[in-house]
Amino acid sequence: MASLKDRIEGLRKAFEDGLLKAGDARSLEELRTAFLSRKKGHVTLLFEDLKSAAAEEKREAGRLVNEFKNFVVVRLDGLEAGLRTDVRPARPVDLTLPGRKRYVGTPHPLTLFQEEIEAIFLGMGFSIEEGPEIETDYYNFEALNFPPHHPARDSWDTLYIKDDLLLRTHTSPVQIRVMERSKPPIRIVCPGRVFRRETPDPTHLPMFMQIEGLVVDEGITFAHLKGTLEYFIRALFGEKIKVRFRPSFFPFTEPSAEVDIECIVCSGKDPACRVCGGTGWKEILGSGMVDPQVLKNVNIDPEKYSGWAFGLGIDRTAMFAFGIPEMRYFYENDLRFLRQFGTK
Ligand code: PHE
Repeated sequence: MASLKDRIEGLRKAFEDGLLKAGDARSLEELRTAFLSRKKGHVTLLFEDLKSAAAEEKREAGRLVNEFKNFVVVRLDGLEAGLRTDVRPARPVDLTLPGRKRYVGTPHPLTLFQEEIEAIFLGMGFSIEEGPEIETDYYNFEALNFPPHHPARDSWDTLYIKDDLLLRTHTSPVQIRVMERSKPPIRIVCPGRVFRRETPDPTHLPMFMQIEGLVVDEGITFAHLKGTLEYFIRALFGEKIKVRFRPSFFPFTEPSAEVDIECIVCSGKDPACRVCGGTGWKEILGSGMVDPQVLKNVNIDPEKYSGWAFGLGIDRTAMFAFGIPEMRYFYENDLRFLRQFGTK
């Protein structure tokens, strides 16, 4: 009996030493095997030995062995449960590792660029207006001097909702809405989304952004148009940027001009440039003197007032400003792209 007691005490000590050293679930599992395994566990062997104990000692010996077994089981179960929740294995902390960077949201590059453009026009005394993205045929076309079925409509690949209702193909309908509700002098810019039935490629998407400008007052001439747009483009791209005005046609302006700027992705040096197609120039806006018929449509007297207007593609111009070869990047929400903007 005394020898059984000693054996149990020895095992208890060994078990407790083992517990002290066990730092993780694996070493606890090893301890469990050493003591409780059905074949050679220390506790199992104690039970084996009970069989040969003298009859009068069996009761007491059985009690001692059972008590020890419960002690082992309870301690192991308790520690294992603890490990699963809050008792983590001690792991050395590497103080030389860099901290984890927290990313703070930033404005979208197109928003930043739009605000930059707005700021230049605000500085020249323009104010900002907006209009609806779903338009009627009247505002998107007819009031802008596109008669029904006129072939000029074909250059705006329109997405119709129903016969008379469409997704605006340009921001020009806002010109009409503003002129209807205000009297000259008018100096406004209107940014917004526009929609066209386009097959996506590096410089075309079915949804993109434009900013429209409109000036109406007495004595406004083409010189105002040219001077203001040149000032604007230099403010945006720097004094050295090359700009050219090209005669063009829009039903709502006469005369009309498109404005190209030098391709700053390739500077005209890459015949295979995906942005300018090797021409060295990229069109960024359409403009012209407001057609007298358009002024009549909104009850402004064309004998007394004249005006000029422009519409600029924000996406395509932002591509130049930031040197981006793909318009699609703006809309894919890839954080690796977006995070490059807005943090100084
Ligand atoms: N609305 C024209 C376009 O989308 C651009 C434009 C605006 C042209 C104003 C002249 C005047 O192409």
